[in-house]
Amino acid sequence: MLKGKKILIGVTGGIAAYKICFVIRELRRAGAEVRVVMTEAAKEFITPLTFSTLSGNEVIVGTFPAPGDSTVRGSTWHIDLGLWADVMLIAPATANTIAKIVHGLADNAVTTLVLSLRCPLLICPAMDAEMWTNAVTQENVERLKELGFFILPPVEGELASGLIGPGRLPEPEAIVQALGEILEKTRQNLTGKKILVTAGPTYEPIDAVRFVGNRSSGKMGFAMANAAALRGAEVTLVAGPVHLHTPRNVKRIDVQTAEEMYQAVQTEFEKQDVVIMAAAVADYTPTKPVRQKIKKEDRAALKLKVELRQTRDILEALGKKKDGKVLVGFALETHDEIQNAKDKLKRKNLDLVVLNNPLLEGAAFGAETNVVSIIDRSGKIEALPKLPKFEVANRILDRVAEILQR
Ligand code: CTP
Repeated sequence: MLKGKKILIGVTGGIAAYKICFVIRELRRAGAEVRVVMTEAAKEFITPLTFSTLSGNEVIVGTFPAPGDSTVRGSTWHIDLGLWADVMLIAPATANTIAKIVHGLADNAVTTLVLSLRCPLLICPAMDAEMWTNAVTQENVERLKELGFFILPPVEGELASGLIGPGRLPEPEAIVQALGEILEKTRQNLTGKKILVTAGPTYEPIDAVRFVGNRSSGKMGFAMANAAALRGAEVTLVAGPVHLHTPRNVKRIDVQTAEEMYQAVQTEFEKQDVVIMAAAVADYTPTKPVRQKIKKEDRAALKLKVELRQTRDILEALGKKKDGKVLVGFALETHDEIQNAKDKLKRKNLDLVVLNNPLLEGAAFGAETNVVSIIDRSGKIEALPKLPKFEVANRILDRVAEILQR
């Protein structure tokens, strides 16, 4: 996977910076081209000359050329390098760098690059255990994952402080292997394809403050959107009310109700090559939502009855048009799963249906993993083991890419 690949390495100021020498050597041995960008703080640990000798390329340290430097790279080096790279690695990534990336700061060569980067980015945090386990650092790392960055967590071991704990940069071989795996997972086989993904629940108003909803967290749909964008697709994400950050390079449209989701999907449908309906759309909505807040005494008068009517089925409506597009639906089933999912595929005229049962271990609402079976039009069933949602998304996209190539 690494042969002929262009790899950009950002080195920040941690003691593990010396290990990057071995990473560069391994990458070049594997046939990759390497360029290095480093922060001023990294220079405290290792010199640019070491990296330029090992990589065979000029190393960028400052955001601006040094005074009197006439070999000006131009002010767009960060854009040029960002476009040049197939994958970027930041190692070691300090707690400070991680926090800066989360907040979009661009105060040195490495963070400036990240802001304009389009290719996949692997971040390898390395720091003392106390800093790594700090709640703020952990929260920042979660946020980076939601944004669509890959994290190779530090390993347990002896730290520079002499303490033992999690914080060590993984060995160079592990970093090189992770880069190869990321290139594999983000194969650009959906470049230029337009993919619409829906995610999360819908909230159906009863009155000004109450609603009928469901437990969907949106994580599966957001993972689908992220995985598709990383493969080069132009992704539109129609999201119900969720507490997740938008993956980078994804256009997001927020909606609340099933009807709003219906409208948003209809508006976007024509441009798309693929529609993946991962949202848990409400099947029923209150007939007469009350504009004001219903008071306790009013509720007694209503006898606490809320009348519901069926919502429009978004996917079924798309299946009727079809229009040469690839349609993927999810089927949430707790019994007679296979038969129900196959019926859904037929009734909604889908290309694939992804069956999941929230009662299975590892497939519950809000979980980081999912257990699904992918069923196609011929009735073939691909039963996947318990996998992280991002991996599930990739397996579904592999099948979508296959259908698009036919
Ligand atoms: N779906 C939709 N519009 C709706 C309801 C569901 O587009 N109003 C989509 C979901 O996003 C999902 C698929 O249809 O991709 C299956 O949803 P599910 O609720 O499991 O099935 P239903 O068709 O609603 O049938 P049932 O509730 O009887 O299982």
